[in-house]
Order: sequence, then C-alpha cells, then structure tokens
Amino acid sequence: MSVLLATDGLVKNYGGLRVTDHVTLDVRAGEIHGLIGPNGAGKSTLIGQIMGEIVPDSGTISLEGHGLGSLSQAARVRRGLARTFQTPQKLGEYSAQDNVVVALLARGAAARDAGLYLERAGLSSRAALRAADLSHGERKQLELAIALATRPRVLLLDEPMAGLGAAESALMIDILRGLRGEVAMLLVEHDMTAVFALADRISVLVYGAIIASGDVASIQSDPLVREAYLGVGDA
Ligand SMILES: Nc1ncnc2c1ncn2[C@@H]1O[C@H](COP(=O)(O)OP(=O)(O)O)[C@@H](O)[C@H]1O
Ligand SMILES: [Mg+2]
Repeated sequence: MSVLLATDGLVKNYGGLRVTDHVTLDVRAGEIHGLIGPNGAGKSTLIGQIMGEIVPDSGTISLEGHGLGSLSQAARVRRGLARTFQTPQKLGEYSAQDNVVVALLARGAAARDAGLYLERAGLSSRAALRAADLSHGERKQLELAIALATRPRVLLLDEPMAGLGAAESALMIDILRGLRGEVAMLLVEHDMTAVFALADRISVLVYGAIIASGDVASIQSDPLVREAYLGVGDA
C-alpha cells in the first residue's frame, strides 16, 4: 500500500517537556491507522503538528511524498488533510446543512453536494437543525461531515468517540467503517473497542514516543503495551 502521510523524526518540546519524541509513522492509502496512548501522551499535539497548527521543533511531515514544510493550515487542507477535534468546534446559529455548505463553497464546490456529506456522516435527518441544537454526538458527526466536504486524502480524527454514549459510539464506528477505503484515517482514540474494531494498524504513544506499532493482534498481545498502557502487565 502506498504511503500517503508520513512523519519522520518529529520532535516537539514545551519548555522542558518533550511532548513529541522522534515520532515516525505513516498512514497508507485505504487504511485506518489507530493511535492510542494515555492522556497527555501527545496525541492531539501530533495532530496539531500534522495540520500545521503547531510548529514542530524538528523532523518532517510529508503528504504524498511532498514535504509540508511551513505550509499554512489552509494549504494543508487544499493538499488533502482534514481533521476533527476532541471537542466539537462547529456550533452556532447555522444549520447543519449550512455548515457543510460553507466548507463546500470554500473549495469552490457546489452547495447542492452538502446532502451527500451529511448522509455519509449519518446526519441526513438532522440537516435543517441549528448546529447548536444538535446533541454532542451529532455535533461530532457534523464535524466529520464538514471534514469530508473538503474531500481529504487523509482524515485525522481526534477522539471521535469522546463523550459519546454506547449507542452513539456504535453509530460512529459504523459511520467510520462506511468510509473505510475511501479516505485514509489516523484515528486517535481512547475507546479501545472502537480502535480494535476499526484499525488496520495501531501505534501506541507513551510520553510522546511510539513504543509499539503493528496489527491489532500484535498490539493486543505486546507485553510492553499491556504493561505501559492497558495496565495489565504480566506479573
Ligand atoms: N500549549 C501547550 N503548552 C504546554 N504544554 C502543553 C501544551 N499543549 C499540550 N501540552 C502538554 O503536552 C502533553 C501532551 O498533550 P496532548 O497532546 O494534549 O496529549 P493527548 O492528546 O495525548 O492527551 C501534555 O502533558 C500537555 O499538558
Ligand atoms: Mg488529546
């Protein structure tokens, strides 16, 4: 499988704290690459660097073989990156549909396509509601619809299941499964059930460093991962 997104030796420090410690990982065409790790491991900071919101101290990020250098966030979106947030950002007086229309118009696409992206995100029946009136889970779906409307090659998902109930999580898993193959994903997630259900490969981040990377079975049985993260060290 061809590599779409790659980071190489990425480092980010906040004062004396190393939050990203030589992170080298890639996301390949068609795959869902899960990224798990405890709170504060540096998952969101990594997404921020890939999106150009946070400037790394060293290392490189490339998309389809082209270094992203100091490209702006908007330029990265044009190159094919999109993200969602741990806490949904898009709110307000506008309807769910209009929020998607804005994203479409921003790239010169037809407003009538909004329904398509709302449908992919499971929101067809809620299109006319004000974003502010959607439930937390529906706002996460709306963020996904907006991200999809930019037609990303690689979608960066920052804890799409965060704050969702069991039924909402199951729905989000279905929605993401429906996108598999169409768009590659870096799935940052705390919810193990979701990661194990969705990911083709998983990387484990602890204190900013990747301590293991592999398929679901190898991560589930990795003694280092079990001890450091799953908290079930073999005594
Ligand atoms: N702007 C910042 N300034 C200082 N420290 C930060 C900043 N952003 C994040 N951190 C710290 O970096 C670490 C990683 O944070 P984060 O990437 O949000 O972790 P995660 O998403 O894995 O929970 C944490 O210790 C956090 O407190
Ligand atoms: Mg985070």
